[in-house]
Amino acid sequence: MSSYPVQMDQKVEIKDFFDPVSNTITYVVTDPETKACAVVDSVMDIDYPAGRISFEHADEIIEYIRSNGLKLEWLLETHVHADHLSAAPYIQEKLGGKIGIGEQVTVVQGVFGKVFNAGTEFARDGSQFDKLFQDGDTYQIGNLKCFAMHTPGHTPACMVHVIGDAAFVGDTLFMPDSGTARADFPGGDASVLYDSIHKVLSLPDEMRLFMCHDYGANGRDILFETTVAAEKNENIHVGNSTSREKFVEMREARDATLDMPNLIVPSIQVNMRAGRLPEAENETGQTYLKVPVNVL
Ligand SMILES: [Fe+2]
Repeated sequence: MSSYPVQMDQKVEIKDFFDPVSNTITYVVTDPETKACAVVDSVMDIDYPAGRISFEHADEIIEYIRSNGLKLEWLLETHVHADHLSAAPYIQEKLGGKIGIGEQVTVVQGVFGKVFNAGTEFARDGSQFDKLFQDGDTYQIGNLKCFAMHTPGHTPACMVHVIGDAAFVGDTLFMPDSGTARADFPGGDASVLYDSIHKVLSLPDEMRLFMCHDYGANGRDILFETTVAAEKNENIHVGNSTSREKFVEMREARDATLDMPNLIVPSIQVNMRAGRLPEAENETGQTYLKVPVNVL
């Protein structure tokens, strides 16, 4: 059993918002007593062929927070996503709150700062974020006591956030019938992911787990909530006490067949800057996203 400060009896309200373009689920997590809330993994809309961004998805979340009289305290990123762009700064501008991510974001910034040949104006120290979480860090949403678990493997900076009886697992686990996330991005490691998944599975059996993504396996409807017990028993990649060797072999074989996500190029450039676009390049204030040739 983990030594993390689990508080299964804390009551939390959770509202989900599904983005069908990136199959991401954004959550608003609320303390019913104080009406303080956090947004987990928000999504910016992008028409990539046109180079056009917009915020319909984020506006829906802002509207939900405003109309329910909630106070936004945190904008949590479970990791530097490679499949969608974060809308955290846009939401922060409208509603306040602190943007938080795992402190190992500095490793991701180092790697991708090079990949995208970002200039010296791109700091690799995580300073674009308001809070860099370390393993076991505690924080509050209103009166709710929360903590972050460092769960690398998919990426170095991955964190699972545990709030009451709910854990937001990012891309450590998918629904039991969908397995686990890839571990082949720079800094990813299947064996490390195996350990991180077991950290999550050491939480209480009844803990509710909320996925960052779901792809509707085998044509079923989108699902995003399960439990530690269900993952332990039924997860097709790690359930039933699957050994590390078997998992790593499966994960590496599978990753070798996967294409890069459609939005990896714009996503990483924006998300490594906490959801902000790169600095404007000329006097008209025009911003550009780069495509590194033959690197990814
Ligand atoms: Fe991811």
